[in-house]
Amino acid sequence: MERKLLHWWFVAIGLLVLIYGCQTISREMSPGEMLYRAKCSSCHSVIATSSYDRQEWRLYIDKYGKKMTDDEKRIVLEYLVKPD
Ligand code: HEC
Repeated sequence: MERKLLHWWFVAIGLLVLIYGCQTISREMSPGEMLYRAKCSSCHSVIATSSYDRQEWRLYIDKYGKKMTDDEKRIVLEYLVKPD
């Protein structure tokens, strides 16, 4: 009897983790985040937004975003400086 109860606990916890995981994955991405991930993570991994300040990000975007339009650069910069 006790064992069976324990078993259901594991099932319940497993389901909770699954549901929570799916929600996290399908979290909506802002256009800036999508653009950043699309344009800036093909050569290296995604760099945390908190790594640099506005001036530093601007320099990196100019350096690595040569193929991006001015609009795209602006959107990515706004996202990097103020995520979410
Ligand atoms: C064409 C490939 C490529 C793309 C696309 C690219 N990068 Fe990079 N990035 C590199 C390389 C290579 C380095 C390492 C340069 C070095 O170590 O001197 C780097 C390094 C960096 C660094 C410094 C990381 C560190 O730890 O020193 C930052 C910040 C960065 N990239 C931001 C960006 C951003 C923002 C974008 C999008 C606008 C972007 N990168 C797109 C190739 C790329």
